[in-house]
Amino acid sequence: MKGVLLAGGTGTRLRPITHTGPKQLVPVANKPVIQYAIEDLKQAEIQEIAVVLGNKGQEDVQQFLGDGSWLGVDITYIVQGEPLGIAHAVGCAKEFVEDDPFVVYLGDNLLRDGVVDLVESFQAGDFTAGIALQSVDDPSRFGVAELDEDGQVRRLVEKPDEFVSDLALVGIYVFSPSIFEIIEGLTPSDRGELEITEAIDVLVDSGEKVDSHVVKGWWKDTGKPEDILEANRLVLESHTGSQNGVIEEDAEVTGSVELHKTAEVRDGAVVRGPVSINRGTVIRAGAYVGPYTSIGPNTVVEGVHVENSVIVGDSTITTDGRIVDSLIGRGAAVTSARDLLPEGRRLVVGENSKLKL
Ligand code: TTP
Repeated sequence: MKGVLLAGGTGTRLRPITHTGPKQLVPVANKPVIQYAIEDLKQAEIQEIAVVLGNKGQEDVQQFLGDGSWLGVDITYIVQGEPLGIAHAVGCAKEFVEDDPFVVYLGDNLLRDGVVDLVESFQAGDFTAGIALQSVDDPSRFGVAELDEDGQVRRLVEKPDEFVSDLALVGIYVFSPSIFEIIEGLTPSDRGELEITEAIDVLVDSGEKVDSHVVKGWWKDTGKPEDILEANRLVLESHTGSQNGVIEEDAEVTGSVELHKTAEVRDGAVVRGPVSINRGTVIRAGAYVGPYTSIGPNTVVEGVHVENSVIVGDSTITTDGRIVDSLIGRGAAVTSARDLLPEGRRLVVGENSKLKL
């Protein structure tokens, strides 16, 4: 079994963060989303992994993952370039896959329980493909699957207007190499992409057996800022915390807090977990870092209350007041305008930023 990890796409919904880097590198609990996917594949004993790159952030992804040896896997890079659809991205991996079955993992998806169950379910039968599903409250926002009594896939419907099924497609698939021939026969959909749902539908229509596996633990597609915050919450909830950094006597650190050994909590600052604070970051006077917050490396937080937020890193956050439910990109400076005249907020805001003031 091989792995094909998709790291292309546009990431429109995560702008402006994705203006400067691919969304698969956005950190959740201080670990890039794509690393969770690699770890899941490795856990399923998949070591040969192709990472499919888009136009954006090719070097960043390669620099971060390298040859994969530090994660115990062997990574091959394939360039898709233009985001012509998930099926197109999968098609780019044909030479890499050769005659093996393979798992396709969308690089912005996060699953609590990984992919072992899906792989085992696929291997237990005589299937041409396998899909992962999860029951959702709002199926009209997803691709959904209709199943027969045995759990085999009858058809897939993209964002159904009328109720078909509440089982949404999770971004993990297993395929045998026969999928490539089907992908080659696809034509672009109305949104101009080669759709993987259509490829699976062709399989089903031609009488092939497609397995389905319902994912029990949480699953998050991190396509939007609020998804990143929720994924961060879910991951932090399962952490036990390891306070290795410097905590000054008058500072207060309680709950599950991952404090990097080079991070510091000083001058009476308060940190209440679950929280993750990365290397070289300093939490200083007047700062309160509350539950479900991750702060990346080399950041200063002072005077401000931060809760339920992700601060990517290399930032200065020294304003007053409260920052909640926020995603703050790398290198941002959020400082105080209190003593400046005329009174007012001073913004240098990138394209497609979203501010609630
Ligand atoms: P999407 O989230 O469906 O698409 P996107 O990344 O373009 O984001 P947005 O809709 O906000 O513009 O992509 C799902 C995953 O598949 C994601 O990890 C990117 C990857 N992908 C590719 O690698 N190639 C592609 O052509 C497409 C469409 C997606």
